[in-house]
Amino acid sequence: MPDLLKLSRAARLAGVSRSDLQDKIRSGVLETFEGKVKITDLVRVYPQVDLDRDPMLEKMQRIKDNARAKGALETRETGLPSAEILLQRLHSLAGMLIDTKSRLDYQTELLTTLSGKLGELSQMKLSSEELHAKIEGLDRWLRDVLAERHEKPEDSAVLFARNLLLHVIAASVKLIPSGHEFFVEGGDTILQAAVRKGLHVGYGCNDGSCGACKARLISGEVIETQKPLYRLSPHEQQMGYLLMCCNSAVTDLTLEAALAASPAELPMQELSCQVEQLQRLPCGSQLLQLQVPQAQNFQFFAGQSAELELPRGGAVGLPVISCPCDGARLQFVAPEQQEEGAVSAAFGALAVGDAVKVRGPFGDFVLDVETETPTLFIACDEGFSAVKSMIEHGISIDRIPAFYLYRFASPGRAFYLENICRAWADSLDNFVYRAKPWLGEASDTLSSPPWAADFGAADFADLSEATAYLAGPGLFVDQVAHALIDLGLNQDQLHLSRLAN
Ligand code: FES
Repeated sequence: MPDLLKLSRAARLAGVSRSDLQDKIRSGVLETFEGKVKITDLVRVYPQVDLDRDPMLEKMQRIKDNARAKGALETRETGLPSAEILLQRLHSLAGMLIDTKSRLDYQTELLTTLSGKLGELSQMKLSSEELHAKIEGLDRWLRDVLAERHEKPEDSAVLFARNLLLHVIAASVKLIPSGHEFFVEGGDTILQAAVRKGLHVGYGCNDGSCGACKARLISGEVIETQKPLYRLSPHEQQMGYLLMCCNSAVTDLTLEAALAASPAELPMQELSCQVEQLQRLPCGSQLLQLQVPQAQNFQFFAGQSAELELPRGGAVGLPVISCPCDGARLQFVAPEQQEEGAVSAAFGALAVGDAVKVRGPFGDFVLDVETETPTLFIACDEGFSAVKSMIEHGISIDRIPAFYLYRFASPGRAFYLENICRAWADSLDNFVYRAKPWLGEASDTLSSPPWAADFGAADFADLSEATAYLAGPGLFVDQVAHALIDLGLNQDQLHLSRLAN
């Protein structure tokens, strides 16, 4: 019986982030058993969990709504009840399960107590009258306890049933040796789910012909979703290897799969993409969204750039501002100062549906996905484009315990896409967002620019445990880097990207 939960599952059930759980574990509030937590402990630590508002049941409802349109067809073709009916039955089975589990837990506890009382009785030297009186007392106690029994389901039983339902809706996958976890939902393959999470697993064709997505199944059960052309050797099959792009998860899995550890381990790619969206931002910059060819993904580390070859001539290198967890849809911001140049003219002539060649990825100013420390993202002007994908990826992989985004703008420059920054701060408990003009004055001394106290120093008593990513004009980056080191930041934890001034 799954009384112990993996951290990702426990976080999902309690409706909190994984890093919030890790905080509780680090501070000793929550105990772990081989990296897992007990359902009863989860209920104790998160008593505010709203058991009536079940995100999983909401998800089931969404699946049900999506299924509704094709439900009748499926019934005719497969002879099975429609997805809607199956989910309804699952829901009512969950109710029965909660009731049964509550009773079982209650009776187990009662039997344990009764056994203890009988044990005490057996140790006593009693006359037959005294024994009779004791047994009568025990009988009264038992009747009273049974009469007091409430029919309200136990919180732990509700979580138990919810966890079992979650196993039906989504299987969790743990990758070793990295320890990353993700869920496989709906009809996703293991590869699709890993890429959606933004994990840099190896892959190529995405259709079972290259063998690049090979991984070894350590535990759990998978189902083949398509027949691969690539043949695993008999030895590989015996060792439990599978192709992640051709299998989905039936149960929770542990897989041995290598992740690219650095940008150098990603292949250089060239994709013919299509302009899907163009949006002129209030500041004069242009937001460009490209659709990657079907069944392909652009693999990159958050923070990296790509070179765009424009259809009417000109090529430009820009940071990818979207998350690597969506390699099928890439976003860029063409900065306002390029409006005057040849490239800008080519950008201005872009239209939805145009073909744009994307080459890359480039750059080593990237998010360290293993980071589990509070993280500062400090950006000035277009530096924000470089850190935006890092923040989105950090939120997606859910390892960073606290985000601090400090944005600066030079005179006359705008805080583009600021609605996104405000939305992060509004929706995430562990996200701080501050914005301020940067004057870049010569009077700012390198070691203590006047604004430093408003930011890192105000939010941190001690920066020695933090990681920082800085992007912006060279002078700005140098000033902030000095200030952060003065405030105690470890130089190894400082990542810099200097844009041309
Ligand atoms: S990505 Fe090519 S076989 Fe899976």
